[in-house]
Amino acid sequence: MYFKFSAAFLSLFTSAILSFGQTDRRLELSDKQNGAEISPTMYGIFFEDINYGADGGLYAELIKNRSFEFPQNLMGWNTFGKVAIDDKNPAFEKNPNYVRLSDPGHHQRSTGLDNEGYFGIGLKKDAEYRFSVWARTTGENISSQIKVEFIASSNSPVAESRLNVNGDKWIKYTAILKSPITDDKCKVRIFLSSPNSVDLDHISLFPVETFNNHENGMRKDLALALADLKPNVFRFPGGCIVEGTELDTRYNWKNTIGEVENRPLNQNRWEYTFSNRYFPDYFQSYGLGFYEYFLLSEEIGAEPLPVLNCGLACQYQCRGPQDHAPVDSLQPFIDDALDLIEFANGDENSKWGKIRAKMGHPQPFNLKYIAIGNEQWGEEYPVRLEPFIKAIKRKYPKMNIIGSAGPSPDGKDFDYLWSKMKELKADLVDEHYYRSPEWFLSQAKRYDNYSRKSPKVFAGEYACHTSNRKNNFESALCEAAFMTGLERNADIVAMATYAPLFAHKDGWQWKPDLIWFDNLRLVKSINYYVQQLYSLNKGSNIASITENNLPVTGEDGLYASAVYDKNSNSYIVKIINTSDKAQKIDISLKGKKFDKIKSWNCTALQAPDLDAENTIEMPDLVAPRRVDMTINDKAIKTTMPSKCFYVYKIECIK
Ligand code: AHR
Repeated sequence: MYFKFSAAFLSLFTSAILSFGQTDRRLELSDKQNGAEISPTMYGIFFEDINYGADGGLYAELIKNRSFEFPQNLMGWNTFGKVAIDDKNPAFEKNPNYVRLSDPGHHQRSTGLDNEGYFGIGLKKDAEYRFSVWARTTGENISSQIKVEFIASSNSPVAESRLNVNGDKWIKYTAILKSPITDDKCKVRIFLSSPNSVDLDHISLFPVETFNNHENGMRKDLALALADLKPNVFRFPGGCIVEGTELDTRYNWKNTIGEVENRPLNQNRWEYTFSNRYFPDYFQSYGLGFYEYFLLSEEIGAEPLPVLNCGLACQYQCRGPQDHAPVDSLQPFIDDALDLIEFANGDENSKWGKIRAKMGHPQPFNLKYIAIGNEQWGEEYPVRLEPFIKAIKRKYPKMNIIGSAGPSPDGKDFDYLWSKMKELKADLVDEHYYRSPEWFLSQAKRYDNYSRKSPKVFAGEYACHTSNRKNNFESALCEAAFMTGLERNADIVAMATYAPLFAHKDGWQWKPDLIWFDNLRLVKSINYYVQQLYSLNKGSNIASITENNLPVTGEDGLYASAVYDKNSNSYIVKIINTSDKAQKIDISLKGKKFDKIKSWNCTALQAPDLDAENTIEMPDLVAPRRVDMTINDKAIKTTMPSKCFYVYKIECIK
């Protein structure tokens, strides 16, 4: 700890020394034109069930394979005594398997099963957990009993509850257990504690305290981390899982709604995508389905932006055209899109609106955006997108439709798709870039010359990939510099979402990621703080910040953008110094508004070195903090240390 602070201090000190005698940079912030409006959807989040982001992550269910539907029915469970899988007279038609516990016949032995959770089950001292199970016995007048235990990582039972099961009808039984310990690698054990057999299905355990306390809810700390980003838009559910390796395994939203027990399991393609990160137990329970997604979007104040399959299986992974829907057979896919819009927005009497209302949300979710296709390319994509656009616009003329520019941010395929998107009149085009630090720095000017007549841009997936693929300060700084270009061009760039969002530290497939977590804790990456600094300082209009009348786009490693916020009558300037030297900067404040300044402040993001990263053990190593700032003679006088991101806010009197 001492070393870390010393290093940080040393770097500031050295920067200050270096700054001595350097030529000033003279920037100008003008109050003149409060430029184009910044889109209300500008900074958002993109969620995909990758890295155990949903099951084992945001979705607060603690039991793995709760319905015994994994291809190996007992995966995630350890059994003892007499345990069998059956599917006769099931409780749930779409998830028919259940487990039967019977007396082993030897009085000194018992029957039961343990669940290992997702890399263990995390329990917190004094927190309450809701255990539930659907159960029956083998006869109308027969009763039985089960005992539920929490088992600590030391293998000792630490809490228990008993449930009596009566009769041969499937009934849901619940019990609340309180944990006396904090331990992230516990198990849940269920014993048959009387001689009569019981059948059990949908065995579930949730913390009682979830985000907004919904029973089928989200892990509170992770959802709060999303809410703290104040995201404007929420892209979901992918990413590649929208596409499926074959069309049959694509994300099927209709399987994700209705009673949670009856949502059929789906494959998760991230189970096997990388052979060095193979996770045979990675499936999608769809417990976090489209209803939960719309609700969460509403609760964190983000516009939902669902992505639907366009009739193409993943073009990287599928076998070829045999895994694509023929163009004349797209109707079921188009219907999926139309029905989803009705599920979100239809009134209570419409077929799909009725289901939403029954699930607890009679009011529409007011969906305004929909994306068709993820990372598609080639002629096979526009020819499929076209009938979707026609059908959606015919029925919902105001719906904004997003098309894809493919997996690369440049090149022949990219140019081809952009020209097609213009032709098809897509409202927005989704660009993806996972690129090097050099690329991110060079692309701060990317949108300066984009046509203003085109569809708007959605930077739907991006992250700076350093050679070690870490969420380190270098990657965050380059993203911050790049984002000045998004902000300066907010008249054409309407949305931007970093990717991926979540990663379980024991179960990741892809990095870097915005938020890392284990079974009890989370860490916000430095990249998270960059996103947050932009989102919390979004403003309402683009403002002009220049050097020698030109935008500040990397000369001597300096990047800048500015916004005006009409609600607070403030100007907000973001400056990134990526160079190896401190830079003395004067930002002159041009215009009458700056005659009456009410207050000002400066927030800085700095790190001991470029490879620094926040970890679960040291989550706050690099986080925004206030630094001093002076305004003299209508100018901000500042010295920016080497490698830092500063946000200046100047509030004018109304
Ligand atoms: O974000 C991870 C993956 O990257 C997404 O699923 C896909 O769209 C992209 O290739």
